[in-house]
Amino acid sequence: MEVVKEISEVRGFINQSEEQAVGFVPTMGYLHQGHLALIEQAREENELVVLSIFVNPTQFGPDEDYEEYPRDLERDLELARNGGVDLVFMPDADKMYKNNAATKVEVTGLTGKLCGASRAGHFSGVCTVVSKLFNIVNPTRAYFGQKDYQQVLVIKRMVEDLNFDLEIVTVPIVREEDGLAISSRNKYLNQAEREAALVLFDSLQRAKELIDNGERNAKAIGEVLSNKIEAEPLAEIDYVSIVDGNNLEKIDQISGRVLIALAVYIGETRLIDNLVVEV
Ligand code: PAF
Repeated sequence: MEVVKEISEVRGFINQSEEQAVGFVPTMGYLHQGHLALIEQAREENELVVLSIFVNPTQFGPDEDYEEYPRDLERDLELARNGGVDLVFMPDADKMYKNNAATKVEVTGLTGKLCGASRAGHFSGVCTVVSKLFNIVNPTRAYFGQKDYQQVLVIKRMVEDLNFDLEIVTVPIVREEDGLAISSRNKYLNQAEREAALVLFDSLQRAKELIDNGERNAKAIGEVLSNKIEAEPLAEIDYVSIVDGNNLEKIDQISGRVLIALAVYIGETRLIDNLVVEV
């Protein structure tokens, strides 16, 4: 496994790979089982696997956790090596963003909803860095986790609109045994918060039960979900949304591909989770 910091080194590596399929896994590091599932699938479907580790400053708001975001490079490199990664790209922020950088990539519409509504500028930061990474790595396929459902939808739209020549592959959410969706931010939770955090998964399961039993009224399901979360003293809802899974528009009736998405503060930690149902 090669580990490089310079853009020119990534290009050199890719150019000498003679048109083999390149699977790309962009991450902010602090790798966990969710990232390993992306790496595993990339490994299965491509000759080369490139992993980026870059805590991207432009996708964090001024009051968010950029400085505290967990980092453990040594462990990341070990996990990457064991996962069969060929190249790790871990640029410094000043190399990714020159002082005079004046270009942002903005996807409109989709980014005003769900997480975009409460995290101004977040998706512009994501789209800008992901475009830059795509231009640097030039992958055949790029792998993203379904936990960030909106991120995947936004990136797919960007890829289509800007004619990037690659396939976006979505990998299912990886969960702890008790159901909590695995996330780097779970590290912030103390024991009581870790227990309270289960309310995200449990409430999604409750929604699924209702739908399986024939409930089709989105508002009624949303109320049950919200009540369940509000009953947890350590939880505070950012949003509970039941939307069309293709365009994130609000729906009245459960029909077609439906996304049930949550963002909930557990103590100070904002967690997201979701469930997709096809009715
Ligand atoms: O999902 C993430 O970890 C980040 O948003 C990404 C795609 C690596 C861009 O910084």
